[in-house]
Amino acid sequence: MPEAVSARSNELSRTFGPHLAAVERRTTDALAASGFSGLLVHSGSLLEVFQDDRTYPFQVNAPFKVWVPVEDAPDSFVWFAPGARPRLILLQPRDYWYKSAQTPQGYWVESFDIRPVAERALARAQLPKDLSGAAYIGEPFPELASWGLKATNPAALMRRLDYARAVKTPYELACLREASRLGALGHRAAAEAFRGGASEFEIELAFLEACGMREQELPYNPIIALNEGGAVLHYQVLAKRPPAEVHSLLIDAGVQSGGYACDITRTHAREDADFAALIDRMDRMQLSLCAGIRAGVDWREVQLRAHALTGALLREADITLCSAEEAVDTGVTRVFLPHGIGHLLGLEVHDVGGFMRSPEGGDIPRPEGHPYLRLTRVLEEGFVVTMEPGIYFIDQLLEEARGDARGQRINWTRVGELSKFGGIRVEDDLAVTRTGCENLTRDAFAALPR
Ligand code: GLY
Ligand code: MN
Ligand code: MN
Repeated sequence: MPEAVSARSNELSRTFGPHLAAVERRTTDALAASGFSGLLVHSGSLLEVFQDDRTYPFQVNAPFKVWVPVEDAPDSFVWFAPGARPRLILLQPRDYWYKSAQTPQGYWVESFDIRPVAERALARAQLPKDLSGAAYIGEPFPELASWGLKATNPAALMRRLDYARAVKTPYELACLREASRLGALGHRAAAEAFRGGASEFEIELAFLEACGMREQELPYNPIIALNEGGAVLHYQVLAKRPPAEVHSLLIDAGVQSGGYACDITRTHAREDADFAALIDRMDRMQLSLCAGIRAGVDWREVQLRAHALTGALLREADITLCSAEEAVDTGVTRVFLPHGIGHLLGLEVHDVGGFMRSPEGGDIPRPEGHPYLRLTRVLEEGFVVTMEPGIYFIDQLLEEARGDARGQRINWTRVGELSKFGGIRVEDDLAVTRTGCENLTRDAFAALPR
């Protein structure tokens, strides 16, 4: 085994036990606080296509994969009763049409009492007879009603578990670093394909090949947009042929490892030095936002600072005709930056719990005028967040702005020149520390083999 691979696998073996102990501890506390004696978590079911006998790709539920790094096991369960070893009830049907879930192997299996079952209904026999004090988390399924659980998806319990997920254990950070390493490999290959004249689809193939992933294994649909496509924030069409003239690439694509996602965006210019300079300017602005991140920072302030910096960038680039302050106050910056500056990242790309004031209840509202911000909490050591400033030339928003007081503050000639590039986004993943942050993405790019 190459040295780096063996070091990574040693780290997972070393850190999984403490991670599981932390999950057990917080689950024990959450169960006690919300009046339950045990927890049954479902991995999820396969969803069938209407009038067909095939299914959509399986996506495992996050509350299940926080326990076990198993991504290909529908209709399996984790059972946890405080004080006992957690039990994994793994569905392994005898089936010659589809391959059953693999028999688990690796660093985590000895921590679980593993019980294979051939049918979902048989899982009931692997659980205590009396489940009248237990909670269930997952989509309900027909036979569940007869299992005698106390509650399905109880809000108070789930809230406590979701709240706790924001702070990552060292094991989770190791998974996130590995996802970032793979993501950086994919982004490098994608950038090379772009320079070679590839279509959006071919750029995706280059990304997948470099990461060694199938599309359905990614944590979100990759956003791979040439030219104006970059102005569609979650652009989902992958054109099979390149346009006649290629100006730019915006690629927002991530990978997961052990169930933990990275979420990375880079923007590339083909030839245009002016647009390349603008990307560079955005990159510096993104780094300056990253430099302000540490435990204790209120994410709502980060959102507002990003708008102040965007106002300055737009003015410097001659895209707007007013001061940074005026661009913020009049809503001009929101025409160009209509999304949130970042979000929690982990088992889901947009992870849960971003608005929670406390495990007990209450939400922290978004600042007025920022309806798409997904995080309003104060950062704590161990949070992992994205930092993703951008500017976009979005027809819909520009047209709306042209008709009101914002219109006179925008340099329409300059907007006309830049629209063909779509937009710019620079997105890194940051692990918050007491005094700063670890930039998982930049570290991964810097460590790529030549
Ligand atoms: N990839 C989606 C996002 O950046 O939030
Ligand atoms: Mn993101
Ligand atoms: Mn992204």
